[in-house]
Amino acid sequence: MTSSRSSWKSNIGFLLASIGSAIGLGNVWRFSYMAHQHGGGAFLVPYIVALIVAGVPIMILEYGLGHHEKASSPLSFTRVNKSFEWLGWWMPVVAMFGIMLYYSVIIGWCVNYLFYSFSLAWGDDPQGFFFNQFLQLSDSAASLGGIRIPILFTTLLVWVACWLICFRDIRHGIERASVIFMPVLFLLTIIIVGWSLSLDGAPDAIFNHYLHADWQKINFLAHDPATRIAAGKVWAAAFGQIFFTLSLGFGIMITYASYLPKKTDIAKNAFITCLVNCLYSVVAGLAVFGIVGFMAQSQGVPFAEAIKGGPQLAFVVYPKAISLLPKMNTLFGIIFFLMLVIAGLTSGVSLIEAFTCSLTDKFDWPRKKVATVLCIIGFLGSIIFTTRSGLFLLDIADHFITNYGLVCGGLLECIVVGWILKATVLRRHINRHGIGVPKLWNFFIRYTTPAILIVLLFISLSGDLSANYGGYPTDQLFIYGVGWMLICFIVALVLAFQSWKSDKLKRRHKPGEDELLV
Ligand code: ALA
Repeated sequence: MTSSRSSWKSNIGFLLASIGSAIGLGNVWRFSYMAHQHGGGAFLVPYIVALIVAGVPIMILEYGLGHHEKASSPLSFTRVNKSFEWLGWWMPVVAMFGIMLYYSVIIGWCVNYLFYSFSLAWGDDPQGFFFNQFLQLSDSAASLGGIRIPILFTTLLVWVACWLICFRDIRHGIERASVIFMPVLFLLTIIIVGWSLSLDGAPDAIFNHYLHADWQKINFLAHDPATRIAAGKVWAAAFGQIFFTLSLGFGIMITYASYLPKKTDIAKNAFITCLVNCLYSVVAGLAVFGIVGFMAQSQGVPFAEAIKGGPQLAFVVYPKAISLLPKMNTLFGIIFFLMLVIAGLTSGVSLIEAFTCSLTDKFDWPRKKVATVLCIIGFLGSIIFTTRSGLFLLDIADHFITNYGLVCGGLLECIVVGWILKATVLRRHINRHGIGVPKLWNFFIRYTTPAILIVLLFISLSGDLSANYGGYPTDQLFIYGVGWMLICFIVALVLAFQSWKSDKLKRRHKPGEDELLV
């Protein structure tokens, strides 16, 4: 089976695909509103700390494991020790059923808005247009309120596009698409950032709001308990964002690295992926803050009033700013939403790939059939998020999956590789070719990263239990019901796939220094 695995045509193809997976809606849509909500420039501190103590070490771990085992995450963990197959399934199940189902709907919204850009369909009231005409949002998350056909249609388009890329093998599907899409994405981003920075009001917004730090928001040592708790939540959000943005804890990077040739510089690839992704977020933030600054100045309102959190940033604030541009509004809208669609698609295919490869590795089913069936099931599962309460549901799913699903996956990965397996042997494997990683990595994987993740999980949990998440106009119990039901659904799927017997999934015996098992 191993010999018939596809492989990347080139290292640059692998890097573009991995960076494409990492750069997604999270970098533009999620990062900017998080930075705004959590203290502007001050948010960059927990973000960079999270990158150093969790992002980079876990990226190296995932690349190293996938490359060493030449397998997707369930097969990688099983080959190391049969009792960890469940952990291998946890990650791609979270990616496919926890994230991709709503992620595809948000890419669908971007496709809708790409079309709306041609006529600036949102008119003078983008907020009313987004909530009342486009989403036709229900009064309560508890009533689904029927499907929105335009959203259903674009969500279907997204799944068809992903299927066209995923059903081919890695070299002819994802690699080829990434080699075309990523340079286009970078070009569109440069145009949008340059354009935004040239607008009146942009420098003021960038210096006084984006790069201006509100240190109180991240001060977890403050005397006042309320400030301390709020700061703890900001740190937890920064770690959640690092997992989300680097596509860690999804099984994607394990799978992508499994297609690499033997002689590969794992550490260098991991550093490049992390660096390019995080720089992209920071640079895209310049565009977001710049255009909001322009809008605030044109309307004569304070910046804090002009900017909005959550999905409203891309679908209310941006359209409003686009309408206010003195010229070429349509072109700006098209470029911005095309950028989001491309960023979303290159991440979407990786979320599907992690699960497709897990199934083909375990059952040896034909890839084309697996990808086709998965995309059909995925589309059907997405329909719930195309209903009139889709916005509520996807926000709840995003919060629970990111803060618990991904962080738990990352924590368990560290514990298994750091404590139960020999981290030092994996490090030796990684260091065979290229720049290598220092011994400090073992320490991070065994102690620092898991300890921080445990504290942050505790903070997220206590924060969620003490307040109604999102303050939705509905019963707190309902919100938790939906969030925890989703987690239970994921656990049930993990157990089902783990106990589904297959002769193909055999533990590989590799005695000697390559044996990862203690
Ligand atoms: N890493 C992807 C993103 O940031 C999932 O959108």
